[in-house]
Amino acid sequence: MRQSSLVVVAMRLPIDDSVAPDGACEWRRSPGGLVSALHPLLRQTPATWVGWAGGSGPAPSLPDVDGVRMHTVPLTLDDLRDHYEGFANATLWPLYHDAVEQPEHHRRWWEAYQRVNQRYAEATAAVAEPGAIVWVQDYHLQLVPGLLRALRPDLRIGFFLHVPFPPPELFMQLPRRAELLRGMLGADLVGFQRAQAAHNFAQLTTKVLGVSATDRRIAVDDRVVRIGAFPVSIDTAEMSALAGSPEVAERAQRFRRDLGDPAHVILSVDRMDYTKGIEQRLTAYSELLASGHVKVRDTVLVQVAVPSRERVGQYQVLRDRVEREVGRINGEFGRVGEPAIHYLTQPFDRAELAALYRVADVMAVTPLRDGMNLVAKEYVAARVDDSGALLLSEFAGSATELSQAYLVNPHDLEGLKQGLLSALEADPADVTTRMRAMRAHLHRYDIRAWARSYLSALDESGSLLHRLGGPA
Ligand code: ADP
Ligand code: G6P
Repeated sequence: MRQSSLVVVAMRLPIDDSVAPDGACEWRRSPGGLVSALHPLLRQTPATWVGWAGGSGPAPSLPDVDGVRMHTVPLTLDDLRDHYEGFANATLWPLYHDAVEQPEHHRRWWEAYQRVNQRYAEATAAVAEPGAIVWVQDYHLQLVPGLLRALRPDLRIGFFLHVPFPPPELFMQLPRRAELLRGMLGADLVGFQRAQAAHNFAQLTTKVLGVSATDRRIAVDDRVVRIGAFPVSIDTAEMSALAGSPEVAERAQRFRRDLGDPAHVILSVDRMDYTKGIEQRLTAYSELLASGHVKVRDTVLVQVAVPSRERVGQYQVLRDRVEREVGRINGEFGRVGEPAIHYLTQPFDRAELAALYRVADVMAVTPLRDGMNLVAKEYVAARVDDSGALLLSEFAGSATELSQAYLVNPHDLEGLKQGLLSALEADPADVTTRMRAMRAHLHRYDIRAWARSYLSALDESGSLLHRLGGPA
């Protein structure tokens, strides 16, 4: 088995299969943020990414992708049902997002969660060279740091949670709360999106495990686990360059024409998820249409909502409700050839997405709760002419950094309507001032800065990063 000095562990491998021109199946790097963030670093060392390649049954053996080794973890249909759809996405996901949907608890799901985490830990132990740095990602794999430390105490282990970490009152509902906390404490550094999450975690470890904790350090056995906030970012330069290209500018113009050249385009881009506040936004929009504050010929809403986790009941129910409401609004307020809402469930390639961002005078990002929300950051990066109003929920992690956005509480229907109107009617000079400030922040604090700050905190001695010449 080839071993690496740097190992990233995530539920999914950072690749998609596609069909090559000769018809063969080809694996390509997927365009996700984490992959772009780590790619420059991963290429400089024989790095390995441990994850699931999609599908069920035996793990395919994959070639290196862009110089990064792919180590696949097999998952069966039962694993997917009970670990991914069950414990990860019907217990932890709703609980960590303020329980906006009811979390479900089943013993069989917990058994699968343990089993799958054990499999990831063993796969990682097999590919990490002595003293390697291992970086475990997200809520699907919270037990991996502890399990891995038991197998390989020589490793330097980091854990990063991309989603919110809830306040103690909510986390305490989990029947296996102690095991989950102990799993995370197997890491040397536990990273969160926001300082509040690190604070919640520190409080919980004291309350549940009785350990001594501050918002920066937790004493466990004979070790110190460091904790902190490392807000994830995007490849700002890449999105800006793409959005600024003549092809994307031209595509944006065509989009605008196809939309009927309205005075105002409002855009929302979400995974179809109940955390994203899609229904609340549709209600606000519908009431603005009904009261005549917004008129169909003048303003259009483009709602992109890619179906997600489609075998989980709560997601099926949400999709049905959203589609019924979009149909109702279009039926009531649309005209022939002029729908009130352009509703799209397709995945878009990066250039098309950049063109949509460029065409949007107002970007409405109004989740009920979100770890970060990268769409908000991508929109800002794409506004190369410093125009565009970002309407942003206070409950998105990105609101901490993008404080110049038009901030709203999506639970407050009147506030949401008012926020939308303010963004639509904002003075262009004010819009530009706000956008400039947000763009300057994202140019400084991009995905590479994020990876650098996390990994240098994890690699305290600096030995790995020194050997690699830095992560960026
Ligand atoms: P989440 O991680 O909860 O889905 P984020 O906003 O943080 O939410 O990230 C979503 C990512 O998915 C962004 O990078 C966005 O560009 C991408 N994305 C969302 N919708 C689409 C779509 N229809 N086609 C392609 N990419 C999409
Ligand atoms: C969030 C999670 C990621 C997850 C993504 C898409 O961003 O933090 O870990 O990959 O949603 O969800 P999916 O279930 O399709 O992987």
